[in-house]
Amino acid sequence: MSDDSRPLPTPTRTAAVIPAAGRGVRLGPGAPKALRTLGGTPMLIHAVRALAASRAVSLVVVVAPPDGTAEVKSLLDAHALPDRTDFLVVPGGDSRQESVKLGLDALPPGHDIVLVHDAARPLVPVDTVDAVIEAVRDGAPAVVPALPLADTVKEVEPAVTTADPEPVVATPERARLRAVQTPQGFDRATLIRAHESVTENVTDDASMVEQLGLTVVVVPGHEEAFKVTRPLDLVLAEAVLARRRLNDGY
Ligand code: CTP
Ligand code: MG
Repeated sequence: MSDDSRPLPTPTRTAAVIPAAGRGVRLGPGAPKALRTLGGTPMLIHAVRALAASRAVSLVVVVAPPDGTAEVKSLLDAHALPDRTDFLVVPGGDSRQESVKLGLDALPPGHDIVLVHDAARPLVPVDTVDAVIEAVRDGAPAVVPALPLADTVKEVEPAVTTADPEPVVATPERARLRAVQTPQGFDRATLIRAHESVTENVTDDASMVEQLGLTVVVVPGHEEAFKVTRPLDLVLAEAVLARRRLNDGY
């Protein structure tokens, strides 16, 4: 049969880029945020393990603080990580966007799906990672995990100084809003095109794909995928780890 000569379809391989090059200004003075510990383990290692826990992820690219690549490499060497996963470390840039771009530039060929995951979301459950990958495999060029909002959101005219009250411009209907998390998942070629063509500053990768006019879809996020941003988030992260240890004990 002529079909016999056709190459077998190659399975989709997934790589994860983890931007971890930020200082963590809002967390206060100290080591770069990704290197701070939670339950005695650096936040970055938690994040790497969370992504490598997905059997689909065969490569993790860590984008390290520019002066911290050697330290990040030795942290990866010092902590147990799955054998099936390869790791790369590259230095980051001045903005998250730049850091992600530097991570994408380091990707070897052969991975059709790329996840971008904040090191600052160390506790994302593997089911959320797998749900994002699954939705990209099903054909979406860009996928974001997200949750409904608890708070009502107001759009304001931002004040010049913090002392001034800010006039409210609009109140978007809360039921239509979602708080977006990571990992965000992409068809690799789409994400690379987005990073090459969108130049203005954005706070997430999916919005660059939106600017290309492509559809971005949302899958359910998870409350444990919250971003460690302010000191109180460290308290919450430690509590989540303590709860996991307790549950694992039974
Ligand atoms: N990030 C990065 N390179 C930068 C800035 C941010 O790789 N130049 C990464 C952070 O390390 C983090 C993720 O992007 O994992 C999300 O950014 P954010 O939570 O804002 O972290 P920081 O920028 O470090 O924190 P802050 O804004 O409070 O300084
Ligand atoms: Mg930041």
